Amino acid sequence: VDASGTRIFDLTARGGTTEFTAAGATETMGYNGTFLGPTLRAARGEKVAVNVTNSLAEATSVHWHGMHLPAAMDGGPHQEVAPGATWRPEWIIDQPAATLWYHPHPHGRTEEQVYRGLAGMFILDDPDTASSGLPGTYGVDDIPLIVQDKQFTADGQWSLKNDGNEIGVLGSTTMVNGSIGAVQQVTTEQVRLRLLNGSTARIYNFGFANDRPFQVVATDGGLLQAPLERRNIQLSPGERAEIVLSLAPGEETMLRSSKPDLGAVAASFAFGGEDSFDLLKLQAAPVLQPSAKISPRLATFAPDEEAASVTRSFTLAGREINGRKMDMDRIDQTVALGATEIWEVRSRNSFPHNFHIHDVQFQILSIDGAEPPEHLAGRKDTVYLSPRKTYRLIMSFEDYADPDVPFMYHCHLLLHEDEGMMGQFTVT
Ligand code: C2O
Ligand code: CU
Repeated sequence: VDASGTRIFDLTARGGTTEFTAAGATETMGYNGTFLGPTLRAARGEKVAVNVTNSLAEATSVHWHGMHLPAAMDGGPHQEVAPGATWRPEWIIDQPAATLWYHPHPHGRTEEQVYRGLAGMFILDDPDTASSGLPGTYGVDDIPLIVQDKQFTADGQWSLKNDGNEIGVLGSTTMVNGSIGAVQQVTTEQVRLRLLNGSTARIYNFGFANDRPFQVVATDGGLLQAPLERRNIQLSPGERAEIVLSLAPGEETMLRSSKPDLGAVAASFAFGGEDSFDLLKLQAAPVLQPSAKISPRLATFAPDEEAASVTRSFTLAGREINGRKMDMDRIDQTVALGATEIWEVRSRNSFPHNFHIHDVQFQILSIDGAEPPEHLAGRKDTVYLSPRKTYRLIMSFEDYADPDVPFMYHCHLLLHEDEGMMGQFTVT
């Protein structure tokens, strides 16, 4: 924090090598280190600034996924940072506590840069909800988990060859925070796991061995209204969930991903629909520190459908949204500052897609006319699109207008994004 009260972060995107397996060092990218990046953390009301330096041999950008901020600070494809250059966005944190993340967004190069390791968590705190009773000691009972799959070649390198797979490369090795076969020691009765699907294409269906129940307490954009008991939670690329697990002294369990439900896709096995993985072993100490009781009321929000003044439709098919591929020089939608809108989003073909909107958090009003399940009823910025179902999303575009600099909406399967499944909107 500098003299004027601004919280300053330094991120340098760089290349390097990282030892993951005995087969040899893998060529990777990272922020500050050689793989992934530091967890950034700031509180609501704080002013933040980031010195983003590009030490790669190619252009990059850093996008603050889930953040509400001016378009010029968003780090999308219009804020590329040239090799050797530094970019310094600043903004004021003005949204509820949440698990956000950051990653590159250069048009056409996002999949490769994220896959190589450019990604990190951005945790937001909110003094107003600090009394939730949730475990909150970082690295002790509050653990960020960046989950990714990788395809290693025999000499320990990563291949982005997808062999024509429509959704991009799926790896047979999974890692958590860059570690294969990770183990977490637990020293408290309850542990909060901040799950991020940091994969470029794979969809995970998180749960624990023996179908053990846990509490879902937050989704992409912040806390749910109340803790929700579940035995699984599915996340597509870019989505997050915070879950709380209780363990008995000396107990062991395994965070797993079991077969995801991709909906009516053709040949679901080709898209990981039959895959399951062990991800992280959790080992409880023989004596556990007591954890606080989670508050039964975590947040309050109610979507106001009456307030919506505009309805827009988005159809995803092939690599297009509404029949068009991304064009850096075309603004696809113009939104009025302060407007509440309903976006009806539908994937028309039989391949997996999801949908992410910059700047805002939305709520799902309905999926094919039915109320969304409770774990999809909270604040979200990314949602899986089960094929041929219509997702009605409601959101408000507050605070930041800029007629010249657009925000993005796109499929967060990064091959699709790179190949043009993206559009631009301005808020004016
Ligand atoms: Cu996480 Cu436009 O991206
Ligand atoms: Cu897609």
